[in-house]
Amino acid sequence: MSNSKTTTTTKENIKNLEKKLGEILGLERAAQKAVDELISMKLIKSDLKDEAKDIQKEANSHEDKIQEAVSELSEDKDIKLDTQKVEETAKETEQKATKMMKTYLGEEPDTSEAIEFLCLAEGGEVTHYEVLSSISKNFDNKKLSTTVNSILKEEQDHLKRCLTMAKEAVSS
Ligand SMILES: [Fe+2]
Repeated sequence: MSNSKTTTTTKENIKNLEKKLGEILGLERAAQKAVDELISMKLIKSDLKDEAKDIQKEANSHEDKIQEAVSELSEDKDIKLDTQKVEETAKETEQKATKMMKTYLGEEPDTSEAIEFLCLAEGGEVTHYEVLSSISKNFDNKKLSTTVNSILKEEQDHLKRCLTMAKEAVSS
């Protein structure tokens, strides 16, 4: 492999990493807001509320961990991640996700729709962390891979918990 090819590949990988980290930050932020909003709209009640709050707390910790990874990767002399670009993508993704929720819920949303939207959001998070995990393999950075894979496991668990909630919401 020539030097120029190596450089191009690396640049492309860094771009992919920046984009995916930004999208993930946006999704984590939107997910936390969604829980607050659905609770204030009284669409998530009683026992489901505690479970949603618990998932929200973990989303907050994921956001912190990814934010920390972004800041460390920006200081890495081989990667020099552009934090501003990450933040731009995060804002854009958060707005898109918020719009999606409004569209999905429509005029008169019920509890089922609210929980199902949370399931969709968790499914989106799982997808993005799976892809981020693949992107991470292009870098020789053990901490990044470990962080991403540990969050991915929790996101897979979030999706399962959301599905359980969705079923509970319709069982009498
Ligand atoms: Fe999640």
